[in-house]
Amino acid sequence: MSTPAHAQRISVPALRAQKGKEPIAVLTAYTAPFAQALDPHVDVLLVGDSLGMVLYGLDSTVGVTLDMMIAHGAAVVRGSTRACVIVDMPFATYQESPAQAYRNAARVIAETGSAGVKLEGGTEMAETIRFLTERRIPVMGHVGMMPQSVAAYGGFRVQGKEADEAKAVLDDAIAVAEAGAFSMVIESVVEPLAREITAKVAVPTIGIGASPSCDGQVLVTEDVAGLFSDFTPRFVKRYATLGDELGAVARAYAEDVRARRFPGPEHCFGVPKAAASAE
Ligand code: KIV
Repeated sequence: MSTPAHAQRISVPALRAQKGKEPIAVLTAYTAPFAQALDPHVDVLLVGDSLGMVLYGLDSTVGVTLDMMIAHGAAVVRGSTRACVIVDMPFATYQESPAQAYRNAARVIAETGSAGVKLEGGTEMAETIRFLTERRIPVMGHVGMMPQSVAAYGGFRVQGKEADEAKAVLDDAIAVAEAGAFSMVIESVVEPLAREITAKVAVPTIGIGASPSCDGQVLVTEDVAGLFSDFTPRFVKRYATLGDELGAVARAYAEDVRARRFPGPEHCFGVPKAAASAE
C-alpha cells in the first residue's frame, strides 16, 4: 500500500516540539500555485484571512467569510504535500460561543483537510480554545494586534507600549497557551514584550512585527515577494519585486500581441512542422 501524501506533512505535535530548538518558518498562502512554490521551504502554510485585503481588495479582514476561507484552504492543501496547513477562522464565525466555533472549525478541517485553525483573541477566547482542543481540533492562537478588532482599536496600532496594555497582552498569551493552543501568533507588539511572552509560554510563538526571539516568524507572501506595493509595514522584509516583474511581463505580452509577434506558428495547431520550427 502506498503512503498517503498527508503522512509526510509536518504535524502539529512536531511543530510544538520545535519550541526552543529549530525556528519555525511560516508564510501565508491562499492559492494552489503559491502553495506549491512555498511548500518545500516552509514549515507552515498559513491561509490567513489577510486574503481579504491581499486577494479581494477589501479594506480589512472583517468582510472575509467562512466559505472564502474554506475554498482557499482546500486549494492550499491540494497544492502542498509537506507543510502543515493552518486556516484562519474569519470574523464572527467563532466569537459567539464555543459551540459556534466548534461547528465552523470542524467544517474548515473537514472541507479543507487542513491540520488546524487559527483564531484571534486572548483571555476572552480561552474557554473556546479549550472547547476546541479538548475535542481534538488543533488551535493556533493570535494575540497582540488582532486585525479583526481593528475597528475597536481605531486603526492598526502596535500593542504593549504602556505597562497595563503589555500586562493584558501577556495575560492573553498565557491564557491562550494554558487553554491548549499548540502555538500562537504574536502580532505587532513591542519587542521586549514578545521576548517575555516567548520565555513564559510553553508553546511556540510565531512573531510578526514582534521579536527575533520568537520561536518562529510569519509574513504575508505577497509582501515579501513585492507583489503588493501600496504600503509595506516596517516589519516586512522584501526579498523581490515580483509586482514590477509581472508588469514587465504584461507589457511585453501586450506589445507582442499588438505587433502580431504572438502567437507564432509554434503556438498554433495544424501548422506544418517545418513552418513552426523555422521561426
Ligand atoms: O491573516 C493573516 O495572514 C495573519 C498573519 C499575517 C499572521 O493572521
